[in-house]
Amino acid sequence: MSAASKYNRIAPIYEFIDLPLELPYFRKWRKEALSGLSGRVLEVGIGTGRNLKHYPLNCSVTGIDNSKGMLEKAGEKAKGKKNVTLLLMDAEHLEFPDNSFDYVVTTFVLCTIRDPLKALKEMRRVLKPSGELIALEHMHSSDPFIARLEDIINPFMFFLLGDHMTRHTVKDIKEAGFTIQEIKNLAFRDVFRKIRAKP
Ligand SMILES: C[S@@+](CC[C@H](N)C(=O)[O-])C[C@H]1O[C@@H](n2cnc3c(N)ncnc32)[C@H](O)[C@@H]1O
Repeated sequence: MSAASKYNRIAPIYEFIDLPLELPYFRKWRKEALSGLSGRVLEVGIGTGRNLKHYPLNCSVTGIDNSKGMLEKAGEKAKGKKNVTLLLMDAEHLEFPDNSFDYVVTTFVLCTIRDPLKALKEMRRVLKPSGELIALEHMHSSDPFIARLEDIINPFMFFLLGDHMTRHTVKDIKEAGFTIQEIKNLAFRDVFRKIRAKP
């Protein structure tokens, strides 16, 4: 089953499944990462639109997702927001010209995209040279014990959410041609991290 079909199926209950991480962790990370942005923002894999309330009004936000079901949920949150555009689109084939955005945002997305390197190269292409990638992501830990646990739960997470626990996201970001500006460990040692990078 493709990631899009999986997310179409779980869209009605996604926010409920996510709640044990959203309430204690994600909510404050989202606010901290997004509340200072301005200009043209592309959010890749916007899901149910949980980040939308954190963007300042001077941001013009384009949110894309390849799951119609998730995008419909985001549409409910975007109602009445004139600065938000939502589009059904594949992160691996972004339909925007080069140098279009001041920021590209991904939150808990690079773990689900089929080919994250391809998607990251697309994100780099559509970012202005002065722009910035802001990512809140989980990845394979450098701690061998935690990494082993991630290896064990990986097949279940993939089955349930199309989620890969064993990705080397910092390496992928560098390989896509970005220069890392900041890496901040957020939780579970270095599993959840905030990454800022320049194209
Ligand atoms: C774990 S959810 C995270 C949703 C949201 N970013 C958040 O922070 O709550 C991953 C999202 O990425 C989307 N996604 C996965 N692969 C994608 C792709 N190739 N193109 C666009 N969206 C994709 C899924 O449909 C899903 O909505």
